[in-house]
Amino acid sequence: MKVIWNNQLVEREDVKIDMEDRGYQFADGLYEVIRAYNGILFTAEQHVERLFTGAKKIDLILPFTREELIYLLNELIKENSIETGNIYLQITRGVSSPRNHTYPKIEFTSPVFTASTTVVPRNLETMKDGIKVITLPDMRWLHCDIKSISLLGNIMAKHEAHKKGKDEAILYRDEAVTECSASNVSIIKNKILYTHPDGNLILSGITKTVLLKVARQRGIIVKEETFTLKDLKEADEVFASSTTMEAMPVVEIDDKPVGDGKRGPVVKLLQELYVNEVE
Ligand code: PDD
Repeated sequence: MKVIWNNQLVEREDVKIDMEDRGYQFADGLYEVIRAYNGILFTAEQHVERLFTGAKKIDLILPFTREELIYLLNELIKENSIETGNIYLQITRGVSSPRNHTYPKIEFTSPVFTASTTVVPRNLETMKDGIKVITLPDMRWLHCDIKSISLLGNIMAKHEAHKKGKDEAILYRDEAVTECSASNVSIIKNKILYTHPDGNLILSGITKTVLLKVARQRGIIVKEETFTLKDLKEADEVFASSTTMEAMPVVEIDDKPVGDGKRGPVVKLLQELYVNEVE
């Protein structure tokens, strides 16, 4: 399996990252996870656009155009013969030495880009059975719209869930549910779909955007409005969404079943509509 290191396809063993890379020292970088289905990158343009938007927010000048990046990623999946799998990519601000919090001048540093692939089939069984979650206060920062490689707040929440034998953590600020540790969350109540509006409190999920589009096309009423922890617990259906999970039914929250504890009809429909988009 080859990987991308800056603008080249190389063996993974040949990648050399400096110990003073700002990604390593400050988590000063961005990432994306893109899914490939049947050898084709899904919603690649949207992922690349989000990367460019994030880069602008942190004054990171990307060393490629959108088109050059998509070309490179396509080369990688072709080279690795990826049919259904994940592409992880990240870019850091690069090396600045000696260690200094201030962004270095662009003349003195070059961003470091890496990307790799993993073969991952669609998890049809879990998509049918659903996942169990806990709820936790959202203790992360206030730039959750930036897909930063600084994920300590997220992984601490995920770890809490795993310690309790659950799959994900749904996060809330005051009483408003924001998102999960590594996915967005939406609820269905009386046939209306509610999900937290985009902004600085959540990552604007690409899977969520696709799901909201197909839901609206199907005549489902979608409200991008905050909902409370109480609404979450009284919802008819709940689902998490991400590139890797697609639309994932949440069947248990804090040890209590959601609805009858099984995947509900709206989530099942959304899963089917999502597959149509992918194929
Ligand atoms: N996570 N919110 C958070 C905090 C996420 O980390 C993710 C994705 C999402 C969903 O975004 P999208 O639909 O664009 O994948 C929402 C990725 C998959 C990860 O960190 O592995």
